Amino acid sequence: MQAEDTENRARTRAEKGAEKGVEKVEGKNVEKGAESSHAESARRAYGLLKEAAAPDRHHLWWAVLWLAIAAGLEVVGPLLGKRLIDEHLLPRVLDWPAMALLLGAVVATGCASTWLRYLQLVRLSGLAMRSVQRLRERVYGHVLRLPMAFFDRAITGQLVSRVTNDTEAVKGLYIQVLFVILDSTIVLAGTILAMAWLDWRLMSLVVALMPCVLLIVWLYQRLSAPAVAKARQLRSDINAQVAESIGGMSVLQANNAQARFAERFSRTNEDQYTQRVAEIRANAWLLRPALDMLNVVLLASVIWLFGQRADGTVLGVAEVGVLYAFISYIARVIEPLIQITMQFSQLQQSVVATARVATLLDEAGAPEHGKGAPDAANETAAPGTPAIDIRHLDFAYVDNQKVLHDLSLQIPQGAFYGIVGHTGSGKSTLLSLLLRYYPAPRGSILMNGVPLDDIGHDAFRASMGLVPQDPFLLAASARDNIDMGRNLPVERIERAARAAHAHDFIMALEDGYDTLLGEGGSRLSSGQKQLIAIARALAGEPRVLMLDEATSRIDSATEQVVQQALDELRGQVTIIAIAHRLSTIRDADRIVVLNHGRIEESGSHDALMRIEGGLYQRLYLLQQLAA
Ligand SMILES: Nc1ncnc2c1ncn2[C@@H]1O[C@H](COP(=O)(O)OP(=O)(O)O)[C@@H](O)[C@H]1O
Ligand SMILES: [Mg+2]
Repeated sequence: MQAEDTENRARTRAEKGAEKGVEKVEGKNVEKGAESSHAESARRAYGLLKEAAAPDRHHLWWAVLWLAIAAGLEVVGPLLGKRLIDEHLLPRVLDWPAMALLLGAVVATGCASTWLRYLQLVRLSGLAMRSVQRLRERVYGHVLRLPMAFFDRAITGQLVSRVTNDTEAVKGLYIQVLFVILDSTIVLAGTILAMAWLDWRLMSLVVALMPCVLLIVWLYQRLSAPAVAKARQLRSDINAQVAESIGGMSVLQANNAQARFAERFSRTNEDQYTQRVAEIRANAWLLRPALDMLNVVLLASVIWLFGQRADGTVLGVAEVGVLYAFISYIARVIEPLIQITMQFSQLQQSVVATARVATLLDEAGAPEHGKGAPDAANETAAPGTPAIDIRHLDFAYVDNQKVLHDLSLQIPQGAFYGIVGHTGSGKSTLLSLLLRYYPAPRGSILMNGVPLDDIGHDAFRASMGLVPQDPFLLAASARDNIDMGRNLPVERIERAARAAHAHDFIMALEDGYDTLLGEGGSRLSSGQKQLIAIARALAGEPRVLMLDEATSRIDSATEQVVQQALDELRGQVTIIAIAHRLSTIRDADRIVVLNHGRIEESGSHDALMRIEGGLYQRLYLLQQLAA
């Protein structure tokens, strides 16, 4: 477990590097042993591809079969042409029906092979899209179930990229591996076989020159790779710059930084252009001309060798057809070779991307809870059982760095508890543990007398309501924001809104509950957003309502509204409120003061104020001074 964790961390770090530049990653891979990691990614990618394609497996086999037939037909064409030349044109045996038949067959095989290929490309593309769709759904579903600890080390942009771009790479695997490489390989093999059958010496000459093609393509890739990598990096810089400036538009405009940002953007854009041009130059100067020249060299050598053999004797009539066939085949040899080599780097990228997706899918999901007693939380506990019972709770995010020390606390049903303390004293951590975002030591937290681990997922989430410091609002209507996909009845939503004192201002919006709130609720004031968040938590009718500094960023008037709402909820739900602003929890039944992960003081406001020089008293007086 421990080793696995460290490995995960290392992997994330390596991935951080991945965004910075391809070369760096290669460097890292070399450190770890490129061979094994490469084989490993290929294995993972293959496994994932197989899984994603499983429902369409028979389609896949048919596509491969038809591709093989298409390639075979393509190889047959020149053989028919040879026969036409050798048996009819040169000996002047003008047997029109037979000639028409041969000619027709040449045209027919050509058309059929093109048509078959086209159909298979369409079929494979469709298949690829469906696999991408399936895979993407699976990855997103998996991300939704990952434990919170995962998101501490995850980088949002990378995760987004896993779900969107990297899943798309699976498509590349289909098109590149199955279509291009497979097709090219079959054509290549068929062509070489046909050439060997016609004249093995000529075939050897062609095959001997084949490595030159590989060399040229390899050289091209070596030369263009830096430009390609740089261009890709710059493109992600462009994305990042746009995203950053949109995210911080208000700050940007307030500082009148438009011109500077535009300038920075145009510089990056220009750089990207330069790199792209460099890449295209490498293609235009090296790849095509060199390959065309090789084509010419091959043709010349074949003709020359042919002439050599005709030496002394009269050129065999039957051999003109062979020459024709060879000339046709040479083009068919070079193209697939180029395709295979060119696709190889694409393929590598796809494999790496797919392997990244596989790694994400291997991340362990959040632990399953309450296998034994799924409804434990709903059972009516014996009277007097505390709603929350924390017993000698120790917790550390990182080994040997305890954040909570031997915490014990009982919160009775329906009580209102406030938690205060300096920043970093462990308040949010305590809430995270109560919310099961992180696993607390077994048996250290009980809810209604049931260990937290034994409560089923749905029952647990239904009994907990959270109002975070930053109300997370969707770009949706007020109703949808309160409902949060739970399909709650209208009355329940309205009741929750009233309880949160949000009803009145929602009704004052032009479309009432149907008013769209804009991205992140940009239409509302921060206080109003927080009231919506409280309504959302209440709409689930939780047994325990938790607030994490829910009032620290809102105005005093709204804070009083929140205070009043909390007051009205007293006795109905158990409330645990972390408050930076002590006025929010002044009236709480009990205030727990945390200090460096330990409970330092606890009691009512008045009781705590009586402790001379106590932490709470100091905090309170400090805030009075500041106000
Ligand atoms: N996800 C995390 N991973 C590692 N350490 C964390 C994490 N969250 C908080 N901590 C550490 O735990 C301590 C308590 O943090 P927190 O509970 O957020 O404090 P508070 O909410 O009281 O300000 C801090 O030292 C903080 O650095
Ligand atoms: Mg906090």
